[in-house]
Amino acid sequence: GAPIEVDLTPIAEGQDIKVFWRGKPIYISHRTKKQIEEARKVPVSSLPDPQSDEQRVKSGHDQWLVVVGICTHLGCIPIAHEGAYDGFFCPCHGSVYDTSGRIRQGPAPANLAVPPYSFVSDTKIQIG
Ligand code: FES
Repeated sequence: GAPIEVDLTPIAEGQDIKVFWRGKPIYISHRTKKQIEEARKVPVSSLPDPQSDEQRVKSGHDQWLVVVGICTHLGCIPIAHEGAYDGFFCPCHGSVYDTSGRIRQGPAPANLAVPPYSFVSDTKIQIG
């Protein structure tokens, strides 16, 4: 259960990495401007689990999305950069998450969880 540090510098814009924390897969996405815009233009009240993109990222580090890669339906691991919203797609029963990791289509009841994390520097985060 120890916290882990992750260096963000190798993650190019538009790419994701997966790390493990407490045995859970964690996706770290370096979002493009377009992906951020997509996440912010949708009316929050229209979402199944209404949360603004701003609530799901750290202020001043808006290009970084950090989410637990466990589908909130029945726990499969969604695939990054798949699905109609350019976010995450769960192949088990077709849940589709957006570029903020919010559920948009399919049976999952909730957004992908955001783990506890903080920026240690502009290019390094600590998870846990
Ligand atoms: Fe992901 Fe069912 S476990 S859609």
